[in-house]
Amino acid sequence: MPWSEEQCRGAFTQPFFAAFGLMRGTRLLAYVSVYHTADELEILNLAVNPSERRQGLGRRILDMALRVARKMGIEKVMLDVRAGNYPAVSLYQSCGFVRVAVRSHYYSDTGEDALTYVCRLRSFSATGADCAKNHSR
Ligand SMILES: CC(C)(COP(=O)(O)OP(=O)(O)OC[C@H]1O[C@@H](n2cnc3c(N)ncnc32)[C@H](O)[C@@H]1OP(=O)(O)O)[C@@H](O)C(=O)NCCC(=O)NCCS
Repeated sequence: MPWSEEQCRGAFTQPFFAAFGLMRGTRLLAYVSVYHTADELEILNLAVNPSERRQGLGRRILDMALRVARKMGIEKVMLDVRAGNYPAVSLYQSCGFVRVAVRSHYYSDTGEDALTYVCRLRSFSATGADCAKNHSR
């Protein structure tokens, strides 16, 4: 479910919350929001403006989040995604995320399963976490 404005405002008051956006002028094209601790980063949401999809922006902003995590010394990045969200699942898998758990009927609105994915940043090459590079392996 999308967050309400109140939930968004509340998140920004929390010290471990961060969000990054890709802008064209004043227009938000894509964003990713995360929670982070010293060892772990959780991707809460990642979205590309519907009119800007399939142009590489999702991959670009995910790659940026992984690079930031790596610079922070974080080794484990995790997220939950709806089992039926094929575009997102495909993006995550192509960026090195591996499915580690399934929670049956997790989403109350559709009854869909939640898939938990983890990306171990140590497994990226010394030149850095790179979705594009990982994608071509
Ligand atoms: C998932 C999402 C972020 C992808 O963004 P995008 O900018 O369109 O993705 P990209 O153009 O960077 O594509 C990267 C990869 O994602 C996958 N992908 C993206 N859209 C896809 C689609 N419609 N069908 C199948 N695969 C798709 C492909 O693997 C693609 O690689 P490829 O171009 O080599 O085939 C976007 O569809 C979105 O905002 N969805 C709604 C929000 C959402 O579901 N977020 C995930 C929450 S966990």
